[in-house]
Amino acid sequence: MNVVQLITKKRDGGPLAGTEIRRLIAAYTLGEVPEYQMSAWAMAVFLRGMNDEETAALTEAMLESGTRLRWPAELVVGDKHSTGGIGDKTSLILAPLLACCGVAVPMISGRGLGATGGTLDKLEALPGFRTDLSLAEIRRQTEQIGCTITGATIDLAPADRKLYALRDVTATVASIPLITASIMSKKLAEGLKALVLDVKCGSGAFMRSAAEARLLAESLVAVGRRMSVRTTALISDMNQPLGRMVGNGVEVDEALEVLRNGGPADLVELTLELGAEVLVSAELAPTRKDAVALERKHLASGAVYEKFAAMIRAQGGDLDAPRPRASEMIVVADQRGYIMRIDAEALGWTIIELGGGRRQLGDPIDHAVGLELMARLGDEVRAGDPLARVWGRTHTDREAAAAAIREAVQIGEIGSTGPPLVLERIA
Ligand code: URA
Repeated sequence: MNVVQLITKKRDGGPLAGTEIRRLIAAYTLGEVPEYQMSAWAMAVFLRGMNDEETAALTEAMLESGTRLRWPAELVVGDKHSTGGIGDKTSLILAPLLACCGVAVPMISGRGLGATGGTLDKLEALPGFRTDLSLAEIRRQTEQIGCTITGATIDLAPADRKLYALRDVTATVASIPLITASIMSKKLAEGLKALVLDVKCGSGAFMRSAAEARLLAESLVAVGRRMSVRTTALISDMNQPLGRMVGNGVEVDEALEVLRNGGPADLVELTLELGAEVLVSAELAPTRKDAVALERKHLASGAVYEKFAAMIRAQGGDLDAPRPRASEMIVVADQRGYIMRIDAEALGWTIIELGGGRRQLGDPIDHAVGLELMARLGDEVRAGDPLARVWGRTHTDREAAAAAIREAVQIGEIGSTGPPLVLERIA
């Protein structure tokens, strides 16, 4: 294989053959292709794109770089993946919810990326919770309890681990074929029968417009189907945080509210809709309406909370240990009007500035900081009404967060609730 020829072919817009892509990824995983050549190749893909066959071949090659989980034939294995949003704690609820409905969920999750928080960082607000389970532990726990949420092991799609780190520092992350192969290789390694993708769109998402989100959703669904996984996607609005809480410990607390059959309506609705997609794909419910009814029944019975508690215990976490919050400050509106726009990404960066996310690889996470957004798009407020609550370590931190929130939440003369929560379904 001549890597220079492969880079040249892609640079000039030509499609690469499946065998060329497979050889390149295999050699890169073994350390036989230097990072500078792989960066050039990634940039060529970023600029020239890939057709569906190439994207599928890249996904397959990355999947084959590692192990694929295998399950007993009778187990219905399913999962959800989100492209990342602000305040998105649906995974914490959905894994035990689906497990109660008969789906085994071996959820491989990530850490914060850019302004968005990560499921693993949130769950680590529970003292002792382990996110480094081995493949044998993932298998055992998923078969015995029904759900697991943990980080990727080194055996699952190692090519993605390498390529993602390279893309992160070569401005090649935001490419639909590269994102598709990255997400789908990890999800397919879980050995799934059914998968739903939550493609976020708006001020707090990777994809700002519905058109971009649709392209990504279609690409993800096409690859999933090609690889025999029943895959659907929802495009969901991310022009304001999902739920009220943003941060690590506070998001766990809000997820617990939903697990106890309460919690904010938008968070509940999206979680149930995503779950319904998996249940229908897995043929555990005839229609999405039936699936939602089944999910509501399990939530109301307390079974989903019990399942979550069992998963946390199995992974060493302590649900009863106190989860301290930093000192609190209320942020008030400085004028009357309607909430016209929320810069959700800026709220994500505010959490990072408070210490709840990483500025650099390896930074520690402060689980006690966070914010609660007390007004939503379209709400009417008067000067002095509470906009948000901030938990920060120092007065200076809280003041800086308050200023950032006032800037992120625009008050004006026109009230609009923004787009619907679920914009589109791609199947
Ligand atoms: N999440 C991933 O896992 N990979 C990407 O490329 C982007 C988001």
